[in-house]
Amino acid sequence: MSLRLPDSGAEVAADGRRMAPSAARNAGPILQVLRRVIRPGAKVLELASGSGQHAAQFAPALQADWQPSDVNAANFASITAWSGDVARAPILLDACAPGWGAGPEWDAVLAVNLLHLIPQAGAEVLLAEAAKALRPQGRLVIYGPFLREGKATSVGDAAFDADIRRQDPLLGYKDLGWVMGQMGKAGLGAELVPMPANNLMLLAFRL
Ligand SMILES: C[S@@+](CC[C@H](N)C(=O)[O-])C[C@H]1O[C@@H](n2cnc3c(N)ncnc32)[C@H](O)[C@@H]1O
Repeated sequence: MSLRLPDSGAEVAADGRRMAPSAARNAGPILQVLRRVIRPGAKVLELASGSGQHAAQFAPALQADWQPSDVNAANFASITAWSGDVARAPILLDACAPGWGAGPEWDAVLAVNLLHLIPQAGAEVLLAEAAKALRPQGRLVIYGPFLREGKATSVGDAAFDADIRRQDPLLGYKDLGWVMGQMGKAGLGAELVPMPANNLMLLAFRL
């Protein structure tokens, strides 16, 4: 199914480039944190690249070998239009499907604004596969909104979470404690970085 999200009215340019307002807003703060954990030359797998705006900005800024991906091939034209000159060609990857983390290939795996849009069972698979996909010193970086002890952190977050769940009861914000527990089961620990608009960045590492 396709979810109706606040950004879904994004404009599409003639070359297929979509502009997601949230990606434009959060790119700067996310990049600041990524600079701490992603070194030049790092191999980075981006899950759920969406429009491709983040790939276009982050890959050159971090001098990383950037692999965009998404479960929806309809996003590839936009990803390529944005990042074709600075990143690899996008690949089809369902982060909720077991098996994509076949070996320790990546220095970083990045997922921005994805966890609240997949079922809990899918998030569990994502975390387990990402743990397997990381090189020993690799980092799993997750950005997005979370519940804290089962509760949304603002009225706006509660409304957005409720809207997502109305559209699909299996989706919605994940509880931070639950995510940390699943990371532990996957052999990951994480540093939490508070971000604007009540979001968090989880900088996970192999224990
Ligand atoms: C809200 S957008 C975020 C896109 C981008 N990361 C950003 O922050 O602008 C969510 C994206 O998740 C992708 N997605 C949804 N389920 C997925 C899955 N199971 N595996 C990989 N990508 C998925 C959608 O196709 C969409 O591109």
